[in-house]
Amino acid sequence: MLNDTHNRPLRDLRISVTDRCNLRCNYCMPLPKYEWIERREILSYEEITRMARLFIGLGVNEIRLTGGEPLLRKDLERLVAQLSGLGGLKELCLTTNGLLLAQNAALLRAAGLTRINVSLDTLKPDKFLRITRWGELSKVLDGLSAARHQGFSQIKINSVVERGVNDDEILDLIEFSRQNGFAIRFIEYMDVGNANQWQSDKMVPKKEILDIIRARYPLGEPARADGSTPSVDFRFADGGGDVGFIASVTEPFCSGCTRARLTADGKLVRCLFSSEGHDLKAPLRSGASDEAITEIIAGVWRFRSDRYSDERLEAMNSAQGYRPAQHKKIEMIRLGG
Ligand SMILES: C[S@@+](CC[C@H](N)C(=O)[O-])C[C@H]1O[C@@H](n2cnc3c(N)ncnc32)[C@H](O)[C@@H]1O
Ligand code: SF4
Repeated sequence: MLNDTHNRPLRDLRISVTDRCNLRCNYCMPLPKYEWIERREILSYEEITRMARLFIGLGVNEIRLTGGEPLLRKDLERLVAQLSGLGGLKELCLTTNGLLLAQNAALLRAAGLTRINVSLDTLKPDKFLRITRWGELSKVLDGLSAARHQGFSQIKINSVVERGVNDDEILDLIEFSRQNGFAIRFIEYMDVGNANQWQSDKMVPKKEILDIIRARYPLGEPARADGSTPSVDFRFADGGGDVGFIASVTEPFCSGCTRARLTADGKLVRCLFSSEGHDLKAPLRSGASDEAITEIIAGVWRFRSDRYSDERLEAMNSAQGYRPAQHKKIEMIRLGG
């Protein structure tokens, strides 16, 4: 078994298929200018599939496609079909902003995608526009309903809660999810990348969100769906689905993190808060054998010692405090959230 220095196995892989995005969410990529990855540097579907096969050989059993906006990549269902044909995966998932989901849901389902997460932070069209700079909320809602009709095993809504922006909509988002049979997960606003100029007072802690929810809906006991998932989930006591939390800031889960990330230009990144990745594209494109590339991946994982969120919390609780600007991190849009 391949374990890192904290005894964490390699179990899941997030693949960013593009750094391009059709939105500019202010918590992710608010910059007017950004240095995009050049097209020729972006891995082809065949290259991604080969990498995925090697990761599966090392123990990965769940792959999530992300970005940027993954549905901007042409014929994404072709990649989904190739990955699902590899075998060995328990889940093959997609995280999307949903804008292009309506026209793609059926193709993705037929190609073997099992789960979809759709990012949705507000149910108000004008606020959606403010958060995303130029997004049309109705398209996301159409995408969600198209996905529901396709019978995916799970459709989850991801909501990043930002103080003073959408913390007044927590119960509305839950009601919307319950009525439509979606699971919902609230994500603490994180200091990913540097472009969002994160400040801790913009982050609404899980405990505060949970108190708001509990005052309206009785909840069962918390549970992690499996050992490695970052989300802590609660069932509604009335059986109306569940609600989860990704509390990376206030309740870090580094000790159970089994996730590797592959950027669109083939860099292996060990942590969401890393400042750099390890290039796999060069060996891939210069004819390295499967064994040689597998050994590179295994070598990176064996030396993985990252526990950024644990350290952030320690710093936040220290006399000096935590200074996000001092840590250079890869932008979320490039890394794949
Ligand atoms: C980077 S996006 C990529 C996939 C797709 N474009 C989307 O928005 O779902 C993946 C997830 O990261 C989340 N995200 C981006 N910036 C974040 C931040 N600063 N804190 C918490 N979550 C963030 C988004 O809300 C989204 O759910
Ligand atoms: S990658 Fe996702 S979260 Fe980031 S700007 Fe695009 S839609 Fe928003």
